[in-house]
Amino acid sequence: MESLNQTTVTFFVLKGITNVPMLRVPISLLVLLIYLITLGGNMTILLLVCWDLKLHTPMYFFLCNLSLLDMMSSTATLHRIFVNFFSGSNRISIFSCMTQIFMFMTLTTDQLLLLTAMSFDRYVAICYPMHYAMFMNRTVCTLLAIASWLLGVVEITPMFWTISSFTCYRGNEINHFLCDFLPLIKLSCNDTSFLKTYLFIEGYFVGFLCPFFLTFISYVFIIITILKIRSNTGRRKTFYTCSSHLTVVIFLYATLVIQYLRPDSADTLESNKLLSLFNTAAVPMLNPLIYSFKNKDVKSALKQRLKICKLMF
Ligand SMILES: *[C@@H]1O[C@H](CO)[C@@H](O)[C@H](O)[C@H]1NC(C)=O
Repeated sequence: MESLNQTTVTFFVLKGITNVPMLRVPISLLVLLIYLITLGGNMTILLLVCWDLKLHTPMYFFLCNLSLLDMMSSTATLHRIFVNFFSGSNRISIFSCMTQIFMFMTLTTDQLLLLTAMSFDRYVAICYPMHYAMFMNRTVCTLLAIASWLLGVVEITPMFWTISSFTCYRGNEINHFLCDFLPLIKLSCNDTSFLKTYLFIEGYFVGFLCPFFLTFISYVFIIITILKIRSNTGRRKTFYTCSSHLTVVIFLYATLVIQYLRPDSADTLESNKLLSLFNTAAVPMLNPLIYSFKNKDVKSALKQRLKICKLMF
């Protein structure tokens, strides 16, 4: 292993989803099923919001953005499992590996930023209902959406630059189903102390804690406003308008905390793989489900569409 240096590492070997050969086929098929449900569910959300005029509000436009992000991120993270499964080869070129790292990190950051923008939307809707339409106009929404997509790229680029300039690896086997940055940093024999400090400051503080803090503050104000409402039904109704978003937020942050903020997370890769699988496969699948099961507007739009379909065929 130690003798492998930059001249021999021209590709990586992704050891895949499990080291137990017997489980490979069932797990791959399960992931394929989850992936197809993810595409189906998120496409449904996109189409429903397009079709239904009642859903032409900032909240649902943002939800569309989230659905698009979900489809992109699950494609970016899961496609290697299918490539391995159907081609039987677990080699990945350095270029593909770097592309995957970049996409994975950027899209995850985008998700957090978009959820922050969505919590701001909920904050204005609940705390300033009179000014909502004026404040969350097309320009503001578009700017917030563009900022969420672009800031992810801006945040990730320096970190990615460092990772992609690694010249020396201790080996080329990655015990994972995707090229993630932690295993790669572990594998590198370049000096990674700068990167680790940078990751800590940028990744955890700017990338993670900032959106978390902003989302948290929005919800503190939202909850204070809700508690001030006199009637029980009014309180429940108002809370209802942000409950889907809150569920998605709690879900995403919880999985990220469990996956990345544990001490020595790089050292327990075997369990990390299952967590990553949950993070990257299940979370994008659950987002549209949470929104369609918990949300009356989406549910009624869906029912209407299904009725029209029945009439047509
Ligand atoms: C993303 O959100 C913006 C702002 O609300 C909206 O104009 C745009 O249509 C959305 N894009 C998609 C693909 O849903």
